Amino acid sequence: MPGDEQRPADDGRCSGGQRLLVFARRLQGAVDFAGLTAFVADEVRDALGYDNAWLAVFTDDRLREVRVLTVTGPAEQDVWKHATVIPVEGDWMMEQIAQGDRVVVIEDALTDPRVNHDIVDQLRNRTIVNVPLRFIDRPLGAMGLGTFGDEGPRPPSEADLEHLIAMAAHVSVAAARIRFTEERTQAAAERLDLERRLAHRQRLESLGLLAGGVAHDFNNLLMVMRSTASIFEAEEGLSEQGRAGVAMLLDAVERARDLTRQLLALGRRQELRLAPLDLNARARKLATLLRRVVPGAIAIDVIEGPRLPLVSGDETQIDQILLNLCLNARDAMPRGGKLTIETRQVADGEYVGEQPWARPGRYVMLTVTDTGTGIAPELIDRVFEPFFTTKSEGQGSGLGLAIVYGVVRQHEGMVHCFSEPGVGTTFEVYLPVLEPEVG
Ligand SMILES: Nc1ncnc2c1ncn2[C@@H]1O[C@H](COP(=O)(O)OP(=O)(O)O)[C@@H](O)[C@H]1O
Ligand SMILES: [Mg+2]
Repeated sequence: MPGDEQRPADDGRCSGGQRLLVFARRLQGAVDFAGLTAFVADEVRDALGYDNAWLAVFTDDRLREVRVLTVTGPAEQDVWKHATVIPVEGDWMMEQIAQGDRVVVIEDALTDPRVNHDIVDQLRNRTIVNVPLRFIDRPLGAMGLGTFGDEGPRPPSEADLEHLIAMAAHVSVAAARIRFTEERTQAAAERLDLERRLAHRQRLESLGLLAGGVAHDFNNLLMVMRSTASIFEAEEGLSEQGRAGVAMLLDAVERARDLTRQLLALGRRQELRLAPLDLNARARKLATLLRRVVPGAIAIDVIEGPRLPLVSGDETQIDQILLNLCLNARDAMPRGGKLTIETRQVADGEYVGEQPWARPGRYVMLTVTDTGTGIAPELIDRVFEPFFTTKSEGQGSGLGLAIVYGVVRQHEGMVHCFSEPGVGTTFEVYLPVLEPEVG
C-alpha cells in the first residue's frame, strides 16, 4: 500500500488504552478549535500515519451546513480555498455525518460516485474518513482524516478505525467544551458592551439633570435681578451714568436668561408644546434658511423619506436640534463639502431590536450627514456632554449637542453619532411616530 512505509511500528498503538489517555489529557489543554485540530492531527499522524486531519462542525441546529473549521496537513491551503462551508443536502457523505451514528469511509474519492465531485475534484481527495462527533444527543460535526492527490488512496485498517472512534469520543467532549466557552465569552462581551453604553447614557442624563437643575434655580435668581433692575430703570432722578449701568445690567440678565433656557433643555425641564410634526417640512424649511447663511462651497441636500409618518414634537425645539446639528456640520467643513439631511421611516422593530431600552413602537429617523473633518474615536463618546467643545474660546459653547440630546430624550427618542476622521460624520435622531389614538 502506498504510504505504508511512513507508518510507525505497531507498538505505537498496541498500548491503545494508554495512548488514548495521553491524548484525552492533551485535549483538555486545547482552548480553541485550531488547537484541538492540531492535537488530532498529531495523533492521527503519530498513531495512524496520516498527514491530513480536519474538524468540521454543523453551523446550525437544523444541520443544513457543515463548516470546515480547521485543517492541518499539506492539504490545508486547498481546503480553505474551496470548501469552508459545505451544504449538507444532496451530499451523501455530509448526510451520513448528519445522521451521526457511523464512520464514513471513502476508500478512493476519485472513483467513488457517492461523493460530491464539485468539491472533491478541486481538493483532489483520495481516501476520506469522517468520524461523527456528537454531543450527548446532538450531532456536532465530524473529525476527519485522509489522503490527497499523489499520496494515493490508503483506507484505514479495522484497528485504525477502532482507535479513531475512541478518539472521537474524547474530541466530542473537548469540542463541546470549546463551543460552550466561545458562546459564553461572546455573551459576556455583548453584555459588557451593553453595560458600557448604559453607563455612558446614565452619565449624560445625570450631567444634563445637574445642569438643568442649576439652571432652574439660577433662572429664579435672574428674575429677581431683572425686576429689581427694572425698578431702578423707572426711577426719576437717575444720573446718565446710572441709567447706562442699569441698561447694561438688564442686557446681561437677558443674555444670562438665554443661556439658562438652553441649560433647561439639557435637564429636560422645559415644557414641551407638542403638536403633530412633519419632519420633511421641518427639514425643507431649515434647508432654505441654511442656504442663505452657509458658505456657497457647502452643498445642501434634503432627502425626504416617502410617506413619512408624523411625530409628536415641539416645533421650536425640533427646529433647534436640526439647526444645532447643521451648524456643527458647517463648522466641520471649513473648506466646503456636502451636508445632507435625510428622513426615513424605520422598519417596525428594527430600531428597538438594537436598543433594548428604546420605547417599543415605530420610529422616524432623521439624519444629518457631513463630509467634514470627522471626530476622533477617543472623543466620540464625549460629544454629547454639556460644555464639551473642541472649538476655540468664543467659537463654541459645547452646548449644541447636549441640547440635542436633552431635547431628543425629552421626546422619548434617541440620538447616535457615527464618524470617521477625514471622511465625515452622521448624526442619527430617532423620534417615536405619532400613533393615531385608538378610540
Ligand atoms: N458634524 C461634526 N463634525 C465634527 N465634529 C463635530 C460635529 N458635531 C460635533 N462635533 C464635535 O463635538 C463638539 C461638541 O459639539 P457641540 O455640543 O455642538 O458644541 P460646539 O459646537 O459649541 O463645540 C464640537 O466641538 C466638535 O468637536
Ligand atoms: Mg455646536
